[in-house]
Amino acid sequence: MPTPPKDKPDPSSGNAGPEPAGMRKGLTSYGDQGFSLFLRKAFIKGAGYTDAALDRPVVAIADTGSDYNPCHGNTPQLIEAVKRGVMLAGGLPMRFPTISIHESFAAPTSMYLRNLMSMDTEEMIRAQPMNAVVLIGGCDKTVPAQLMGAASANIPAIQLVTGSMLTGSHRGERVGACTDCRRYWGKFRAGEIDAEEVADVNDQLVASVGTCSVMGTASTMACIAEALGMTMPGGASPPAVTADRIRIAEQTGAQAVQMARERLTIDKILTPAAFENAMRVLLAIGGSTNGIVHLAAIAGRMGLEIDMQALDRMGRETPVLLDLKPSGRHYMEDFHKAGGMATLLRELKPLLRLEALTVTGRTLGEEIERAGPGFEQDVVRSVAHPIYPEGGIAVLRGNLAPGGAIIKQSAADAGLMEHEGRAVVFENMEDLVGRIDDEDLDVTAQDVLVLKNIGPKGAPGMPEAGYIPIPRKLARAGVKDMVRISDGRMSGTAFGTIVLHVTPESAIGGPLAYVRNGDRIRLSVKHREIALQVSAAELAQRASDRPVVEPSADRGYRKLFLRSVLQADRGVDFDFLQPPQMRGKTPQR
Ligand code: FES
Repeated sequence: MPTPPKDKPDPSSGNAGPEPAGMRKGLTSYGDQGFSLFLRKAFIKGAGYTDAALDRPVVAIADTGSDYNPCHGNTPQLIEAVKRGVMLAGGLPMRFPTISIHESFAAPTSMYLRNLMSMDTEEMIRAQPMNAVVLIGGCDKTVPAQLMGAASANIPAIQLVTGSMLTGSHRGERVGACTDCRRYWGKFRAGEIDAEEVADVNDQLVASVGTCSVMGTASTMACIAEALGMTMPGGASPPAVTADRIRIAEQTGAQAVQMARERLTIDKILTPAAFENAMRVLLAIGGSTNGIVHLAAIAGRMGLEIDMQALDRMGRETPVLLDLKPSGRHYMEDFHKAGGMATLLRELKPLLRLEALTVTGRTLGEEIERAGPGFEQDVVRSVAHPIYPEGGIAVLRGNLAPGGAIIKQSAADAGLMEHEGRAVVFENMEDLVGRIDDEDLDVTAQDVLVLKNIGPKGAPGMPEAGYIPIPRKLARAGVKDMVRISDGRMSGTAFGTIVLHVTPESAIGGPLAYVRNGDRIRLSVKHREIALQVSAAELAQRASDRPVVEPSADRGYRKLFLRSVLQADRGVDFDFLQPPQMRGKTPQR
């Protein structure tokens, strides 16, 4: 075996040139750059690397595998495939771990940790030598956290999602997480199925590793990442355990090397046009309401504010085309078999900013052309025959939400879109848990359930508790939906006439804080209005009678969180992670 040529130690070597490659990048500070490189190479050679390997462009791979995160259970196979792609293209792959977050294993809520993960991702990208980074994420908060971190670090970056789980089967019915989790739990609460059946279905809801199989937040963020131009074409839809997913991983590794060579940094991709495309796709897929919060956070890192009114205008002209649960019938694996994002983008083409650049170095329009013609399928509808005539999400305003609120109209009861009712108020989560199933609770199906103090600061972390359960006595009587309002979020897999993200939140003295039992509340999705039928003078009186004390903490991450977290319209990001001056709004229309 020939001995590879040695890299001679050079006292003057180190950060020579404007963009040092590979191991020469970002040298540790010892006051002597030549020594810093000498020392670094000595240590990495301890792992058996040669100088020839260390001279290649370094593609780092953010590994979010964790035993606590079954949505990322295929990460080892993906990393192997990414490494193969990197080496086939002449780069050096370097895996590094970051925080991993799973929805069901993070207390008090995964959203509380998203910004911490984004800081971890950003700082490890900054700290370690790399010319490009592959971000492997999947479960709801991980993809936004990685895109936020990479946007701030601004190096060539490409997203690889873990892919969706397979669907299972319960007594002949196809089931998948987590729309069916909620549906079966609702049946159990209503006494329609017994404890034995609910235990049986528990075995079937998650049939493999991978992310939730419906259009929840993970699938939404996968589609958004592709619409932003941040994944390989076709990267959003292959299920986690398929050969297509592994092939995408290999291609992702190879493309990362190309991006490193061309210095295709993330700021060239995350442009206002890219965010407009992502918003268009969010609306057309009937995506999770969480998608708006995460898009606002990612855009915020690029100095862009999401224009909520423009989003609402886009919603009125963008039909829901994707027939996936919870808005429709199918699952992610069906979307993949129907051609995935290429099928959707082809249909949406007249509404897209085709000039937006993608990680391939080609524009979105060029990628749509390269995907070729479509074929007959029944998962992505045509614009002429949508599953819902307007975009899935409507933006509401009114004296109850001066800073805005949203409703996922495509997953709501059409009969409740124009509704006025009496408020039944829960002051916080504990109050809700303690009273919602009380047989003596004064509530009817026409009432409006109001839950306070589950916003960014209130809970804290804006948990997905906005899906307020139907009071058990009403559920037993057959009530399936009611108007529900909160300053929290809702899982993308949930459904119902649910007003979310009320801004400003109650914990900082938003009007929601002063709603009382018996107040009348009017919801008009048609007029985009959420109104509390209480005069401004009366609200001011209530505020002065019982002023709100904002939550605080003495130490640690909780102190940082409560001091720094922004409201929903700013993505629930930390104020110090966004640039001090915003560059403008997106979409620019
Ligand atoms: Fe991970 Fe649904 S819990 S994607």
